Amino acid sequence: MAPQRILRSLPLYHANGLRAKHAPTPAAHRRPLPIIRAFPRTPRAPAPLPLSAPTPSASSAALDLIAGDMAEVDKVISARLDTGVPLVSQVSRYIIAAGGKRLRPALLLLMCGALGYTGSQRFNLAAVVEFIHTATLLHDDVVDESTMRRGRPTANESFGNAASVLVGDFLYSRAFQMMLDSRDMRVMEILADATNVIAEGEVLQLMNMGDASLDEAAYLHVIRSKTAKLFEASTQLAAVLAGASPDVEAACARYGQALGTAFQVVDDVLDYAGDAAETGKNVGDDLREGKTTLPLIFAMQRGRPEQAELVRSAIQQGDVSRLPQLIAVVKETGALDATRAAAAAEAQRAIDALAMLPPNSFTEGLLQLAAQLLERRA
Ligand code: IPE
Ligand code: IPE
Ligand code: MG
Ligand code: MG
Repeated sequence: MAPQRILRSLPLYHANGLRAKHAPTPAAHRRPLPIIRAFPRTPRAPAPLPLSAPTPSASSAALDLIAGDMAEVDKVISARLDTGVPLVSQVSRYIIAAGGKRLRPALLLLMCGALGYTGSQRFNLAAVVEFIHTATLLHDDVVDESTMRRGRPTANESFGNAASVLVGDFLYSRAFQMMLDSRDMRVMEILADATNVIAEGEVLQLMNMGDASLDEAAYLHVIRSKTAKLFEASTQLAAVLAGASPDVEAACARYGQALGTAFQVVDDVLDYAGDAAETGKNVGDDLREGKTTLPLIFAMQRGRPEQAELVRSAIQQGDVSRLPQLIAVVKETGALDATRAAAAAEAQRAIDALAMLPPNSFTEGLLQLAAQLLERRA
């Protein structure tokens, strides 16, 4: 069966009207692409756009340890965005200059510090993981039809879907060019596998859309793939660079995986309980997509029958008009607290993995990041 037919034969793919929602509308066809039109046909050097510092966070003590390293990473990022194609520069600098937490490079650098690796390859690979992350965001915002990221209109909103998808491809392929600099097959294996697993996770999630029967295990499988895998790759790469023993490498990978899982679980709480001014993203995006995240899974398990039914039908219809009622239900049923507890358990798993690392200020920084993750609001 053709892939298109397989997808369309999935009942849940129909359930929330996804096909209809994604079918090109006349309005979408008419929508102008102002940036493409505005660009001169002859390539010229892109105007230099300063890369902003990462958004400050509660974990600034840990991040202070790597402030100098992060400045080096920003230099690599800026240099490697260089291209003769103006639209690529404009879109990639648009999203990267908006900041973001630079969490994945930070984890890679902290882990290098913990293991005593001081080679310059850490800057290159930290930039690689940020490029891969940025590429997934460009694609994700198209897929999710999101309009706000990092406190400003998404790239798809400003430049259109086509430019976002293609510049995402540019960043992925630039990351692959850069990882060759390491001349290390293990590095390439980890990054190639991670990128592939992220794509699988995003597709799995697409197939699950509108499926209110999704259980905790299926949810976990998706978030370990789409989010935790890149965290895991970031911390494991540090171990590979440092030539760590297989046991230590496994502990580093475990830390990244657990932290990344906790990070996404908290993100899914913020989609109901966060403040758009702090997260820089719209509240309720997950519901609009018909995404069955942990707060809703717990709400259906814990709620009275009518509450469970409200959640179920809102997921099936991707009905964002019921967001206020849903927020009330996830709070009343204790689903948000249960979700935070699940994130705390993952954060603890991350902390436990650190027992295998040398006790130093960087390991302490990694511990702080995990301990403070639950408080994150952005
Ligand atoms: C956003 O990641 C995507 C998720 C995994 C939830 P971040 O929250 O790390 O995004 P930025 O880079 O800080 O904007
Ligand atoms: C983020 O996923 C994208 C990836 C991890 C690949 P989400 O769609 O859940 O995150 P936000 O809310 O858009 O950042
Ligand atoms: Mg999204
Ligand atoms: Mg998404």
